[in-house]
Amino acid sequence: MRTHFALLAGLALSWAAALPARADEAEITLKPGNGVEIVASNCAACHSLDYIQMNAPYLTADAWKAEVTKMRRAFGANLDDDTAAQIAAYLAKQYGPAT
Ligand code: HEC
Repeated sequence: MRTHFALLAGLALSWAAALPARADEAEITLKPGNGVEIVASNCAACHSLDYIQMNAPYLTADAWKAEVTKMRRAFGANLDDDTAAQIAAYLAKQYGPAT
């Protein structure tokens, strides 16, 4: 249930960010860390980076890995294996449940 709430909130936020008057709110700062630029440049193409922040409390390292795989397989994110592995490692470290 909590995940569904986060998803709905994510949709609402990405719609709001699409409005020109709210453009400043589209800028999300990810936590600094190894690989942050790779995440920022590959994960903001289709939706806002808030999706990462909103899902952070729920996702373990394995879950982040599965999430990145889902973005590739189900939604067509164009990442090679190496890039995907670096993104999953960054997300697990900076946005895992322990942080
Ligand atoms: C090719 C488009 C595309 C790219 C690139 C993409 N995503 Fe997504 N992402 C989606 C779609 C479509 C959804 C689900 C529908 C929605 O809620 O907008 C989604 C949803 C999510 C969610 C919410 C939870 C879920 O599973 O629905 C997270 C977290 C997420 N993406 C993370 C990422 C990360 C991390 C990356 C970088 C590896 C990424 N996305 C790159 C299309 C993309």
